[in-house]
Amino acid sequence: MEVWQSPVYCTCLENRRLEMVREFESHRFRHINITMNINKNEWWATPVWEIDSGFDEYFNLALAAELADIKLEKGYDRYDIWDYKTPRLLELKEFMFDALDQTVPEYFGEYYPYNPCFINGWANIQHPGADLPLHDHGGTVLVSTYYVTCEENSGDLLVVDPRMGANWEWIADNGFQGVKYRRITPKAGKFILFPGYVMHMVETNRSNSTRISIATNIHNGRIDKIHTR
Ligand SMILES: [Fe+2]
Repeated sequence: MEVWQSPVYCTCLENRRLEMVREFESHRFRHINITMNINKNEWWATPVWEIDSGFDEYFNLALAAELADIKLEKGYDRYDIWDYKTPRLLELKEFMFDALDQTVPEYFGEYYPYNPCFINGWANIQHPGADLPLHDHGGTVLVSTYYVTCEENSGDLLVVDPRMGANWEWIADNGFQGVKYRRITPKAGKFILFPGYVMHMVETNRSNSTRISIATNIHNGRIDKIHTR
């Protein structure tokens, strides 16, 4: 009676299936109870530091006035802001080295010891409607920005993922998934620091005020060993 045999055969199959499910479940539970030894290496991670300097509005206004005087004296072409020893610039410089001491040393070993120096710096004066296109800072080791004056909507800094087309994480911005940048909103007194290989850009200043920041290229190494032509 094949008609009856068939369900018996099916029941066997069903039993076997149940056995397999149990086996699978017991395996699964065994795995759940195993403590995995995971070692996560944050290799080639790219640090971007956002540091609140603590400098207040009065300091920043005085600093802006010093920058205005420098502008009157020399103009903004081909100059180095750190050649000027005005009181607030000197104070800012001291703060920047303190900030470097607290963040960067772990990235440099015995062979290339931590010994930062400013290569050059300049003021970015962005009037309403101005922006900065996508760029990097060439061979410099570190790039920093200090925001002197900025209103709301004066243009965010967009810091681009240096892993290029890697689809490792999906960042959303303004409802769009998969953008390749992180956004930093400027604030007077904020200090930003990141490696020089990171490409970045500044959005259009959509406020009614001029936005002023000070950018600096920072190198690391024994400056007494630098050879020039
Ligand atoms: Fe830049």
